[in-house]
Amino acid sequence: MMLSKIFKIDNLEIKNGIFLAPMEGITDLPFRIICRRFGADIVYTEFVASEALIRDVEKSKIKIRVIDQERPVAVQIFGSDPYVMSEAAKIVEQAGADIVDLNYGCWVKKVVSLNAGAALLKNIPLMNAITEAVVKAVKIPVTVKTRLGWDKNSIIINEVAKMQEECGAKAITVHCRTREMGMGGKADWSYIPGIKKNISIPLILNGDITSPETARLALEVDGADAIMIGRAVLGNPFIFRDAKKYIETGYLPEKPNINERFDVLLEHLKLNVEDKGLPRGLVEFRKHYSGYLKGLHNTSHYRQKLVQMSNLNEVIELLEQYRNYLNNYYKE
Ligand SMILES: Cc1cc2nc3c(=O)[nH]c(=O)nc-3n(C[C@H](O)[C@H](O)[C@H](O)COP(=O)(O)O)c2cc1C
Repeated sequence: MMLSKIFKIDNLEIKNGIFLAPMEGITDLPFRIICRRFGADIVYTEFVASEALIRDVEKSKIKIRVIDQERPVAVQIFGSDPYVMSEAAKIVEQAGADIVDLNYGCWVKKVVSLNAGAALLKNIPLMNAITEAVVKAVKIPVTVKTRLGWDKNSIIINEVAKMQEECGAKAITVHCRTREMGMGGKADWSYIPGIKKNISIPLILNGDITSPETARLALEVDGADAIMIGRAVLGNPFIFRDAKKYIETGYLPEKPNINERFDVLLEHLKLNVEDKGLPRGLVEFRKHYSGYLKGLHNTSHYRQKLVQMSNLNEVIELLEQYRNYLNNYYKE
């Protein structure tokens, strides 16, 4: 059995923490509720543009809606102007978030070209000014999420982590890739112990945790106070429960069976429709089918049909048909 790793962000005590990573278009309210239920210790919203928040853009306001059932929840914002970011953070605080997280890691062009996200790894004084301004503006804890550096020749995470702590950040998540890598290559966890030597705030390791086994390995990394999982949660919120069981007992739990996968898929779908209404709740759910149905027999045939359907009852009926088909298929 591994040692427990315990830390606090303000009054929030976290043991062997496994967090849901912020993911644009994915970590909306219904998905966060499901992930919390399966044991995610903190869930993160997708990033929200600070400029849009202060302009009161409806779409962005919806993204920062939080409810008690999902607590503790972090709302992530991005931007490049200390004043705008601090005003946006106040709005996030007012909305009831437990934590405001600052995005200093997004690699995509539309964000970097605004001098936000990972672009701030090239402008550390501005990054520091943003964190300081936000910390001053709100009472809730401010955390940051970033990468190792801009490219392999500018790995500056040790210095960045220290400066962020000095600016008042209460925790730092490191996606162990550079901006140049985007989502390619392999996350390099070997930087984590060195980063932790420089700081006393909690350090959260992120990147390429794909299974209970890799979750355990990541939590065992010297200096990692907690871990954060992104892509591997798609269609697999069970990973939080299974990783925790494995970490606590040393036994690898059985993979979720067909019925559990379909039950959770249907629950997630219904929550999505309740939250967003029709047809949006159904249409936006299409991206989740491939995750939940991954690896199952005849899945592409059913998935192709599901992503074209626009009637909720018909979707549910087809899913039940597929479930029966699979239960018979795997029994034989
Ligand atoms: C579809 C998608 C959307 C993402 N959106 C965000 C985001 O809004 N904010 C953020 O900090 N990171 C975002 N990320 C990065 C993830 O939070 C995480 O750092 C990255 O996926 C590496 O972790 P993983 O290997 O567990 O997926 C996104 C990743 C994906 C795949």
